Amino acid sequence: MSKLRLGVNIDHVATVRNARGGDTPDPVRAAVMAQEAGADGITAHLREDRRHIGDADIDALMDALVIPLNFEMAATAEMQKIALRHKPHAVCIVPEKREERTTEGGLEVAREENQLAHFIAPLRDAGCRVSIFIAADQRQIEAAHRIGAQIIELHTGAYCDAHARGDFATRDVEIEKMHDMAALALSLGLEVHAGHGLTYDTVKPIATFPEIMELNIGHFLIGESIFRGLQPAIAEMRRLMDEARL
Ligand code: PXP
Repeated sequence: MSKLRLGVNIDHVATVRNARGGDTPDPVRAAVMAQEAGADGITAHLREDRRHIGDADIDALMDALVIPLNFEMAATAEMQKIALRHKPHAVCIVPEKREERTTEGGLEVAREENQLAHFIAPLRDAGCRVSIFIAADQRQIEAAHRIGAQIIELHTGAYCDAHARGDFATRDVEIEKMHDMAALALSLGLEVHAGHGLTYDTVKPIATFPEIMELNIGHFLIGESIFRGLQPAIAEMRRLMDEARL
C-alpha cells in the first residue's frame, strides 16, 4: 500500500500567537519543526478575517518550507489573487463563514459548479494542484470531478464528532460512507485526502483506506504538543498512520 502522507496544519499556533497580538509562538517555526519531524506537507488557512494565519505568515512559509504548502482558502477574488502571487504547491478550496469557529462543513460544489470551474481554472493554469474540501457525498464528488479539481479532501468532522459523543453506530456509518466515497473519487481519477478533527483515537480507521493518500491534521496535534512537544506529537501520529497502513 502506498505511504499515507501527513499534512500538518499550523493554524492554531497562530491562534495562540494572536491571542496576545505579539510574535510568539511563531507558526513558521512550528512548520519548520513539523517538516523536520517528518511531516509531508504543511497546511495553512488564510481566513478572510485573518483570525489566525496572516498574510506575512504565508510569505514566510513560502520562503521557509522545502515540503509542499497546501494553501487553504475560500473561493474569493482576494484569495485567488494571493494564491496566484505565491503559486503554492496546492490550494484547498474550503467554505468559510465568519461566524463559524472552524470549517464546519464541506464546500457546496454541485450548486456552484460554473462559478467554481471558472474560479479554479487560473489556479490550475498557474500550476497549483486544486483540492476541494467536501463532505463524503456522491453529488459533491462528481461535481468536483466535473469542474476539473485534481484532489478532493473528505471532511472527517461528522465521523470524529460521532466518535467523541460515543455514538458508535453513526460513527461506523460515517466510516463506511467515507470509504465508499473515497473509492468513487479514486475511480473518477481524483486524488483523495481527508481531514478535520482527527486525533490519535480516530486516525486509524481512516488511515487504513488505501484510496486515501493524505491526511491533514491540525488542532489536535497543536494541542497535544503542549503536553509532549510538537515533534513527538507528530511522530506519534505518523506512527499510528504507518501502523494502520501495514
Ligand atoms: N483540512 C481542512 C480542509 C481544514 O479546513 C482543516 C481545519 O482547518 C483541517 C484539515 C484540519 O482540521 P483539524 O485542525 O481539526 O485537525
